[in-house]
Amino acid sequence: MQSNLLSKLHVGIIMDGNGRWAQARGLSRGRGHEAGVETVQQVVEAAVDQGIGTLSLYAFSSDNWRRPSAEVALLMRLLSRYLRSEVAKLVENGVRLKVIGRRDRLPGGMAAEITRAETATASGTKLDLRIAIDYSGRDAILQAASRISCPDDLTRDGFARLITGELEARDVDLLIRTSGEQRLSDFMLWECAYAELYFTDCLWPDFGPAQLQAALQEFSRRDRRFGALVASTAA
Ligand code: IPE
Ligand code: IPE
Ligand code: MG
Repeated sequence: MQSNLLSKLHVGIIMDGNGRWAQARGLSRGRGHEAGVETVQQVVEAAVDQGIGTLSLYAFSSDNWRRPSAEVALLMRLLSRYLRSEVAKLVENGVRLKVIGRRDRLPGGMAAEITRAETATASGTKLDLRIAIDYSGRDAILQAASRISCPDDLTRDGFARLITGELEARDVDLLIRTSGEQRLSDFMLWECAYAELYFTDCLWPDFGPAQLQAALQEFSRRDRRFGALVASTAA
């Protein structure tokens, strides 16, 4: 794809399959999550190299609190470590980080770590990276509804701004889900209204720059009509 098109692209990824990756190797699920963090590092760099505009990664859903407490604690430790250890590299690569989702239920100190990482990377211009932690698409819509205060908030653009907290809210163009599951699991429900869906059997720790490129190539072959007709049949 041409880089000027990619720079406007919003790619969402539901990073799934860490547990099965570990199980297949006789490892603990935690090892799968550790391998998953390494994939995040590679894919973020690849997104910068490819010139993607916005990358939204689903790291922990609000329903993931239902997992055993030891697994939840490990996931939170890994996310905290990522926030601490990656900031310098994100800054170097021109990545602006924003964490989406609830912060009030995160373990002590993590919300402050998130703010620190967001502040440190605020001047990045190459890639907008969003990491979804304690995120629920339905809750994001409910929260936005509770903040409606003027007629403009009830337009599509105005409401999208309330949901995303962005002045220029961007729909997801391409939604990737790894591990063979074919569902949204409450990720960016509003923003995915016209997203192209791309499902791959690849487990998240096995995903990488080549798989991202394959997804982008497939995306470039899709015919997005947004309810209208393709140009060749419109006459
Ligand atoms: C994705 O991998 C990571 C999170 C949801 C936090 P999973 O942990 O869901 O892996 P599987 O689906 O059990 O293989
Ligand atoms: C979705 O994966 C959430 C994340 C990838 C963070 P899950 O593994 O939790 O989703 P379900 O339970 O299979 O729908
Ligand atoms: Mg899963």
